[in-house]
Amino acid sequence: MVISLYLLAILWRVKICLLEDDVHVDDFCPSFSAVLCESRVVKVAPGPLVRVEGQTVSIRCNVSDYQGPRDQDFEWSLVLESGDVQLVSTFDAAYPDSSVKDRVNSGDITVKKLSDSSAELTIRKVRASDSATYRCSTPSTDSVTSGNYYADVELRVIGDTLRVVPAVPQPLVSEGQSLELHCNASRAYTVNTFLSVTWSIKKGTSPLEEILTFGPDGEMKVGQNYVQRYADGALLLDLPGGGFFGLVLKGVRPQDQGSYACTAREWTRQPGAGKNWHKILERSEEMGNVSVTPLGE
Ligand SMILES: *[C@@H]1O[C@H](CO)[C@@H](O)[C@H](O)[C@H]1NC(C)=O
Ligand SMILES: *[C@@H]1O[C@H](CO)[C@@H](O)[C@H](O)[C@H]1NC(C)=O
Ligand SMILES: *[C@@H]1O[C@H](CO)[C@@H](O)[C@H](O)[C@H]1NC(C)=O
Repeated sequence: MVISLYLLAILWRVKICLLEDDVHVDDFCPSFSAVLCESRVVKVAPGPLVRVEGQTVSIRCNVSDYQGPRDQDFEWSLVLESGDVQLVSTFDAAYPDSSVKDRVNSGDITVKKLSDSSAELTIRKVRASDSATYRCSTPSTDSVTSGNYYADVELRVIGDTLRVVPAVPQPLVSEGQSLELHCNASRAYTVNTFLSVTWSIKKGTSPLEEILTFGPDGEMKVGQNYVQRYADGALLLDLPGGGFFGLVLKGVRPQDQGSYACTAREWTRQPGAGKNWHKILERSEEMGNVSVTPLGE
């Protein structure tokens, strides 16, 4: 009875782990040759994380399936070919390498506990030279070494190269005619980054109203007030490539009068869970004012 309760308790959250040679079975579970044991799991987001120079980067690290105290400690380091560089620790103020001490002291590199089993590394004003592999480690509180004690993620810091150049639309359009809205958008770094382009209109003092967004996944999203017109075939995308993004508004109405804007956003997709889009840059440009001449005037 006691033994089966003991087994149940172990089986509650366990994984079967194959013992490594240096672990003494007798110390832990004397009656098994293949031992059931807790296997520590340290996790960071799968990389690469693409971020833009000057921005703030936060990387979360979780630990689970460990033994010992609920409250766990964390250390972050850089993994370089020349050797590891210690960054920050949740328990050891002397941990930071002398090469990063200034940035740690100024608060540009910090670690913050989010819970007993989770901590976040934050780098403010990230630099291109911060591109590297980051390692989150948790010191062992387990009775035997089992599982993984660290996890790595690659950070790539890119420059801000997002450009938006709108063409000035025809300033005066007659009701019923077509209005062409051209916008060029580009970025230099295209590995793991994606673009979206949004056309919007501002009517008088009303807030900016979205007409249509193309991307970042090759799909389009039509603004609330334009769904019917899109269904009627009155919104056409013109995408010849080469960074040229065109939207044609057919059958212009008096209420299409206003100031048009074009917004480009640069995204990165976090590997792992589904379509996890993360916006890294956004730039908006006014295109120009368009007046609509009503029919019968
Ligand atoms: C860490 O745990 C939180 C809360 O459960 C979760 O939202 C997040 O995705 C986890 N992160 C990683 C890298 O596992
Ligand atoms: C936009 O790009 C097209 C094709 O790449 C080019 O011909 C055009 O001059 C560009 N327009 C502007 C406003 O830069
Ligand atoms: C459009 O018109 C508004 C109001 O008349 C003006 O403030 C704004 O500068 C104009 N925009 C452009 C791009 O000409």
